[in-house]
Amino acid sequence: MAYDVTHFYEPRHGHGLPHDPFNAIVGPRPIGWISSRDAAGVLNLAPYSFFNAFNYTPPIVGFASIGHKDTVSNIEATGEFAWSLVTRELAEAMNQTCAAVPPEVDEFALAGLTPAPSRLIGVPRVAESPVSFECRVTQILRLQSAAGVEVDTWLTLGEVVAVHIANALLKDGIYDTAAARPVLRGGGPADYFELGERFRMFRPR
Ligand SMILES: Cc1cc2nc3c(=O)[nH]c(=O)nc-3n(C[C@H](O)[C@H](O)[C@H](O)COP(=O)(O)O)c2cc1C
Repeated sequence: MAYDVTHFYEPRHGHGLPHDPFNAIVGPRPIGWISSRDAAGVLNLAPYSFFNAFNYTPPIVGFASIGHKDTVSNIEATGEFAWSLVTRELAEAMNQTCAAVPPEVDEFALAGLTPAPSRLIGVPRVAESPVSFECRVTQILRLQSAAGVEVDTWLTLGEVVAVHIANALLKDGIYDTAAARPVLRGGGPADYFELGERFRMFRPR
């Protein structure tokens, strides 16, 4: 079936809709709950939903900071960050960590979360989260438009050098994605999703 009526727009001229559909279309997205530390040692924790995995070997994750935010400055200073999984139980705490507060405010304390020491890096993880990664930065790329104009967005990529998984999420050694109840970000000011039905499909041979 082909759709003969579509809403067409060129983003540079506006979308013409009540809400920008872009991040509702590219969604729901996993959340990069990123902890970092500034040069003076102050902890920072913030959610980034322009986040994903980009490579297997070595594993690389990345997130985009729209504006050069504290998290990016910290990672530039120390070369390290940790990622923690946002579960349904942690959704409200995650939301509190996005508050626009001055760099000297520790969002772990703000959201009542416990920093868990990492093994290979100096940045702690969220103790309440069942899965976390320790990461070392690989690249910080300033994004640009198709016309080559630099935009104020910073794609920060890091190698996952250590992984922590709660044993409860390993069933016969297989990671149980659904049991973790990951929180996913939709569009608009407040839309989140939980996982729906799983289906399986193997690649053609
Ligand atoms: C679910 C969620 C996802 C977010 N995703 C992003 C994102 O992808 N990029 C971004 O720049 N800000 C994003 N934000 C906003 C940042 O979390 C917020 O600006 C935060 O204060 C940045 O913290 P920092 O300055 O300590 O790094 C998101 C907020 C929420 C609640």
